[in-house]
Amino acid sequence: MARGELPDYPWDLMAPYRERAAAHPGGVIDLSIGSPVDPTPDLVRAALVNATDAHAYPQTTGTGELRQAIVDWFARRRGVTGLTAANVLPTVGSKELVALLPFLLGLGEGDVVVHPRAAYPSYEMGAVLVGARAMASDDPSEWPAATKLVWLNSPGNPDGRVLSIDELRAARERALELGAVIVGDECYAELGWEGEWAETPVPSLLDPRVTDGNRHNTLVAYSLSKQSNMAGYRTAFVAGCSTVIGRLTTVRKHAGLMLAQPLQAAMLAALRDDEHVAVQKQRYRARRAVLKPALEAAGLRIDHSEAGLYLWASEGRDAWDSIGRLADLGIVGGPGHFYGVHHPEHVRLSLTASDEHIATAAERLRASVTA
Ligand SMILES: Cc1ncc(COP(=O)(O)O)c(C=O)c1O
Repeated sequence: MARGELPDYPWDLMAPYRERAAAHPGGVIDLSIGSPVDPTPDLVRAALVNATDAHAYPQTTGTGELRQAIVDWFARRRGVTGLTAANVLPTVGSKELVALLPFLLGLGEGDVVVHPRAAYPSYEMGAVLVGARAMASDDPSEWPAATKLVWLNSPGNPDGRVLSIDELRAARERALELGAVIVGDECYAELGWEGEWAETPVPSLLDPRVTDGNRHNTLVAYSLSKQSNMAGYRTAFVAGCSTVIGRLTTVRKHAGLMLAQPLQAAMLAALRDDEHVAVQKQRYRARRAVLKPALEAAGLRIDHSEAGLYLWASEGRDAWDSIGRLADLGIVGGPGHFYGVHHPEHVRLSLTASDEHIATAAERLRASVTA
């Protein structure tokens, strides 16, 4: 796709299915979008309220306190030690970073941006916006010489797949061989459910077991949207190679991309508190425990989904047919077609609905096979 030729926003295709779901007498249950439904923690809201005197311009790099909180968070929550203030940078949510990184890195025509086969669509869009080519590939041996940027996403959206230390190492080694920047989008890192990820944090691309302490061309993006119910605040950050962070900082200074001061204060409060993250995780764990067996009882197979915010399900038929069946139950899901061309028989169901809605969805799914 040439620069400027933007595709239609795919979610518009959902309109007829939303209408069908809305006709359900018990009301619609929307599991299609991963937008948090639980309240932003009080400590975050209080920090925002206390920071409304923001007469001066904020720093692009964030305050020193915020940068230190990001460094401390990586060490405490992600096992990533050795970062300094020069290795971290706040961003206005992580979607802007995902969509703008090819631009911030100066990529353009002839360059390749690699992203997962089942992928959050903004990786491709970032490439399209600068006229670069996006390539969906999970196999480092396929990545061409023109690769300039590689996106990993673990735990994955939409598929909840976790990349092991060995997989992260192999991807990083190939990216470095190609001279490409490699970024781990880890915004679901706190949401591990099954197998070893129930107990152990999912590995970070900046984990010393992956990098051997060398962060060259290696970045991680993280967001507070999901872990802290702050999607409306647009608070996120990127960390890693100080040279790349330096370049991003310079371009962002020129482009005016800085996080508002009151939001920096809110982000600081969220990053310093682990308790609310545990509370939120427990909510999603409980919802998952209700929805997953109900989907299975209704004949949907759940693939991957060992971590993250979604259940990646398939009935072995075209996703639009499954979306139609769910719509008749008053449930809205997202078709695999929205996440690339490789998963036409999958649907994505989000855990971001109230306990009541999740319980009702589960009842309808079970009743659909016993009726
Ligand atoms: C994989 C992935 N990356 C990035 C984002 C963007 O998150 P935010 O812009 O809220 O930080 C999302 C949001 O759903 C996502 O799923």
